[in-house]
Amino acid sequence: MDLIPAPRYARFADGGTRLAGLTDPLLVAGPGTGSTAAWIRREIGAATGWDLPAPAVPSPAEPSPADPEAGRPETGPGGAPEGVRQAVWLALRPDLARTLGPEWHEVHVTDRGVLLEGADPAGLFWAAQTFRQLLGPDAYRNAPLSRDRRTWTLPIGDVRDGPRFGWRGMMLDVARHFMPKDGVLRYLDLLAAHKLNVLHLHLTDDQGWRVEIRRHPRLTSVGAWRPRSRRGHRASPLWNETPHGGFYTQDDIREIVAHAAERHIRVVPEIDIPGHSQAAIAAYPELGNTDVTGTVPPEVWDDWGISEHVLAPTEPVLRFYEGVFEELLELFPAEVSPFVHVGGDECPRTQWQRSRTAQQRIRELGVDGEDGLQSWFIRHFDRWLADRGRRLIGWDEILQGGLAEGAAVSSWRGYAGGITAAEAGHDVVMCPEQQVYLDHRQDAGADEPVPIGYVRTLEDVYRFEPVPPGLSEAAAARVLGAQANMWTEVTENQARVDYQVFPRLAAFAETVWSELPEPSRRDWPGFERRMGAHYARLDALGVDYRRPQGPLPWQRRPGVLGRPVEGPPPIV
Ligand code: ACM
Repeated sequence: MDLIPAPRYARFADGGTRLAGLTDPLLVAGPGTGSTAAWIRREIGAATGWDLPAPAVPSPAEPSPADPEAGRPETGPGGAPEGVRQAVWLALRPDLARTLGPEWHEVHVTDRGVLLEGADPAGLFWAAQTFRQLLGPDAYRNAPLSRDRRTWTLPIGDVRDGPRFGWRGMMLDVARHFMPKDGVLRYLDLLAAHKLNVLHLHLTDDQGWRVEIRRHPRLTSVGAWRPRSRRGHRASPLWNETPHGGFYTQDDIREIVAHAAERHIRVVPEIDIPGHSQAAIAAYPELGNTDVTGTVPPEVWDDWGISEHVLAPTEPVLRFYEGVFEELLELFPAEVSPFVHVGGDECPRTQWQRSRTAQQRIRELGVDGEDGLQSWFIRHFDRWLADRGRRLIGWDEILQGGLAEGAAVSSWRGYAGGITAAEAGHDVVMCPEQQVYLDHRQDAGADEPVPIGYVRTLEDVYRFEPVPPGLSEAAAARVLGAQANMWTEVTENQARVDYQVFPRLAAFAETVWSELPEPSRRDWPGFERRMGAHYARLDALGVDYRRPQGPLPWQRRPGVLGRPVEGPPPIV
């Protein structure tokens, strides 16, 4: 049935050749199933033209948690039994949660309709995603293709499924190139279609600050735009002289968070400290090392790379960022994400080495040189967040100087940081750049647009394994899951982001959802075959994915230099 990600158990009658035909079903929503019922009415209803009315009287066929077998539609040959209106039944099955775990679900297709059952509301929502895949690619459109009522067929059978990991994520860098709010909402829909449940939003960097902070308005009035951008990677001589910018208002963020929550997706915000802070320093120069930079503050950076403008290690800077995080915690409630990402990556020490204030601070705090200043920043916010019932997560550089208890690590420079953190009892999200950085090129060919990094093909991503060999059992249990990261220096708009992300995100989704054998034994030809059906879904969704044959003419960027790295990526 070409489901992606592949389900744990699926059995279809006569190999999927026996079809049920749905024409105008009822929607019978059991207790606690309202949010998925609303989603089905809105999304499946829009694609199919179905009204999906509730039954006039409670259906005797409605399954209940007490008796989940009650009314389960019988599988039988032919169409719906005479006089019985077909239905889509929704039910919660807490017994599935007890026996199998969170997010598990079942999908049963019979002549009488479809029964979707979730261990919990998230599981039920993923069941609805499977239902949509079974309906076929047109179920991903926003309107029916014809005004004539059509019969939607789907294979008769049963699916029982649940995820391997609880953290199945994607990071989107909206700082280097801003993605307008509608694009983020669309990406949430795309994540949901792949049963992914974390969106990590990289909201700040040297090149832009993308979230409104009421008490510090210059972060967006100054920090959210730059007059020009380098076109291509650092070595490119080209510039795009069009000003670039944008930011999410606080209400935009609330809308994004609510849209995500309706889809059982957590949004993890990232405010990067103490490096990658040039846009903030451009807005408020006193955040920077003014005894080094003098009276000329930096501007929002128009180039790519790692800026030397990092935060000054002072108490007023801590207070400023506490204010930022206070507003952020309100926008991203703990139910949405207990985790708050503080970055912590790639913080050059050069300004701190030259700053008398920073050197004085090192002596006052009694910390171990400039490295000690970095961990002082991170430890401060680790405590500050813990005091507010939140958990800090940061890039693996936060391991330097010792990690505070409760902090979690995004392992990006390979597996090594994640292994160290997990063996020390910290939670880990694996996102090694050698494996799952989707900004890296997906083919070695000369047509690849602005090629950077290693070649990571669709097959390479399909063979990504979140838990590296050799981890102790206790440490392996610390791997919360994995995420694919999408940095946007050379992807100037949504179409370019789509091209890098898809189809590889589909392969990634399977590595975090499905129970796959070890990488060398994975059924790549089988996945490639299922992708045939999945490309049709992506087409209906309007995703500008990379075709297996390579970029379409308008997906190329001839003459724009990237920064390819030769040879196979080292697995570290
Ligand atoms: C990173 O790629 N600098 C986390």
